This record gives sequence, structure tokens and C-alpha cells, in this order.
Amino acid sequence: MRQPIDLYVPNDVRLATPRLTLEPLRTSHAAAFAALLGPDPAAIAMLSHMPDPLTAKAAAEWIELRTGPGGHVFALFLADGSFIGTSGFGGPRDGVPGFGYWIGAAYRGLGYATEAGQACIARARALGARQMVAETFPGNRASERVLAKLGFVPQGPVERHYPLRGGWRRLTFHSLKIG
Ligand SMILES: CC(C)(COP(=O)(O)OP(=O)(O)OC[C@H]1O[C@@H](n2cnc3c(N)ncnc32)[C@H](O)[C@@H]1OP(=O)(O)O)[C@@H](O)C(=O)NCCC(=O)NCCS
Repeated sequence: MRQPIDLYVPNDVRLATPRLTLEPLRTSHAAAFAALLGPDPAAIAMLSHMPDPLTAKAAAEWIELRTGPGGHVFALFLADGSFIGTSGFGGPRDGVPGFGYWIGAAYRGLGYATEAGQACIARARALGARQMVAETFPGNRASERVLAKLGFVPQGPVERHYPLRGGWRRLTFHSLKIG
């Protein structure tokens, strides 16, 4: 029998995959976060709520909003301690969390987003989620591919108002059934 959904527990677990450690994202990660993502405006443009310019203070504010109840965002580390990006889920609507992620430019194309995503999906499943959703801006082929590898299915366009991304935007909505 499946346990009832409880996405509002504090995010205080550390997850591990074959190559990554996932630590709950904290404001203490803000400087490393800003140093890795800040110089990459093309990546920031693919993230609905990410400030640009991304200073350490702006990163701390973004993180702060995702560390409360319902937020399950993780800082990703390699075995040598390198911080490579974040992955996580939160903001559940009707019990369905949204999934988001980014990987620093130097670490892309190595399967890390997919590997971290698998761990996040397993965590959401353990918390009782039965579905997860994601959205991609037009032309984000790498992210579309990550979602497809994780089993997400595109559901069609969705209109969203994202002030940091220029106002009303059309994105592609993706959904994953968590069995
Ligand atoms: C999307 C992102 C997280 C992917 O991270 P990653 O660690 O490189 O992802 P993975 O290595 O797990 O998988 C990437 C896949 O996309 C493919 N890919 C990369 N660029 C591509 C492109 N321009 N067109 C088509 N496929 C592409 C890779 O070949 C790989 O697929 P494969 O395993 O079948 O070869 C990273 O590009 C990123 O941080 N982008 C900016 C932020 C962002 O877009 N976040 C997601 C918002 S929805």
C-alpha cells in the first residue's frame, strides 16, 4: 500500500548516486552557485525564476525561497568535492511537484543532470508523489533530452508569466507518472 503524500517534510536528507552526492541546498552554497551559474546568461535564460545578474546575494535569495516546506532542491557534488549544479523539486500544486535543474557549463554532456534527476524522482516517490511536471523554454534541446531520458512525456504548450524572463512566455509542459 502506497504511503500518503507528504511533500512538506523538511529537506534534510543527503542522497547518493554512483557519481554524485546530493546535499540539501542551503544559502551556504550561494557563493559557489553564483560563481558557477552567474557567468552563463544563456543558461540563466532557460530558468524561469533565476535572477540575472546572478550575484551571491541574488543566489541566496533564490535558494532561501526553495528551502522552506515543500522545497526539495539539492546541491550536486562530485566525489572530489566539486560543486556542479543543482537539481530538485518543489512548489507542489495539487500534490504534483515541479522539477528543475541546472548543471555548470564545464560539467555538461556527462549524464549528471539525468543521474541527479533519477535520485530526485526516487526521493519524490519515497515522499508519496505520483506525478512530477517540468517546463522547458523553446529550443532547450538538452533539457528536453534529459526529461525524455527520465521518462517525462511532452504534453504540449503552456503560457506562463515569468517577469524575469520577459513576461508572458510559451513553454513546453512535460509530465512524468511516478509508478
Ligand atoms: C539541461 C542541462 C541541465 C543538461 O545537463 P547535462 O548534465 O548536460 O545533461 P545530461 O548529460 O544528463 O543529458 C544531456 C542530453 O542532452 C543532449 N544534448 C545536449 N545538447 C543538445 C542539443 N543542443 N540538442 C540535442 N540534444 C542535446 C546530450 O547529448 C544528452 O543526451 P544523450 O545522453 O542522449 O547524448 C544543462 O544543459 C543546463 O544546465 N542547461 C542550462 C539550464 C537548463 O536548461 N536547465 C533546465 C531548465 S528546464
